[in-house]
Amino acid sequence: MAVTVRTLQQRKQNGEKFSVLTAYDACFSRLISEAGVDVMLVGDSLGMVLQGHDSTLPVTTEQLAYHTSAVARGNQGSLIMADMPFMSGATVDRALTAAHTLMQAGANLVKLEGAGWLAETISVLKRNGVPVCAHLGLTPQSVNTLGGYRVQGREKTEAEQLIEDARLLEQAGADILLLECVPRDVSAQLCQSVQVPVIGIGAGPECDGQVLVMHDMLGITPGKPARFVRNFASEGHDIRASFAAYDKAVKDGSFPASEHCF
Ligand code: KIV
Repeated sequence: MAVTVRTLQQRKQNGEKFSVLTAYDACFSRLISEAGVDVMLVGDSLGMVLQGHDSTLPVTTEQLAYHTSAVARGNQGSLIMADMPFMSGATVDRALTAAHTLMQAGANLVKLEGAGWLAETISVLKRNGVPVCAHLGLTPQSVNTLGGYRVQGREKTEAEQLIEDARLLEQAGADILLLECVPRDVSAQLCQSVQVPVIGIGAGPECDGQVLVMHDMLGITPGKPARFVRNFASEGHDIRASFAAYDKAVKDGSFPASEHCF
């Protein structure tokens, strides 16, 4: 049966973990969804892993829509989440236009980077039939204001703000939250403070779901991997088996382990 936003909410209620991987084309979409991965994220990470940019900022709505439609054609029942590009949350009108394009391309929900200030945008998207995932913590589209790709929420006031933002966005109608590079204890507290499922990347095993960039977990991203990455292909698996091993490790709670946490 196809995975829906409701499936993920039920998983959280039952204390069951779910898996998320990025996907950008029909071929990998088929392999990832056949491996049982619950959600495929058409992430703006494609600007880095596919296009060779050093950030996600150059990626456009049209490019994300192109990749979303390819992923939708290969999909075998996973939920498809499409990223909203840099500056698309700057006004409600821009957000509506981008979400319209991405949903018509085949997305089941959209993901927006930001914080509490996204509340109004999220409630308008919801009113228009667009489920939303709010991406908090390290938001790579803000790399220039954050001063690099750094762990967020280490200071007590920052951690409290993150949790307050999470509650506010849930009240505004966010269906899912995604938390990137946040200390494990802060993330655990945040997950308990909201009813909606929380997907983590570098945010510890207490999150309800886990996401990795496909190229990272296959060990083909150039350079030193981030602390939160586990290379599933180096464990003797081929590509199909790597996706299945990732799905299993997320669902049985063995990934992420303490060495992947902050
Ligand atoms: O664009 C992306 O792939 C992402 C993940 C890293 C969460 O936002």
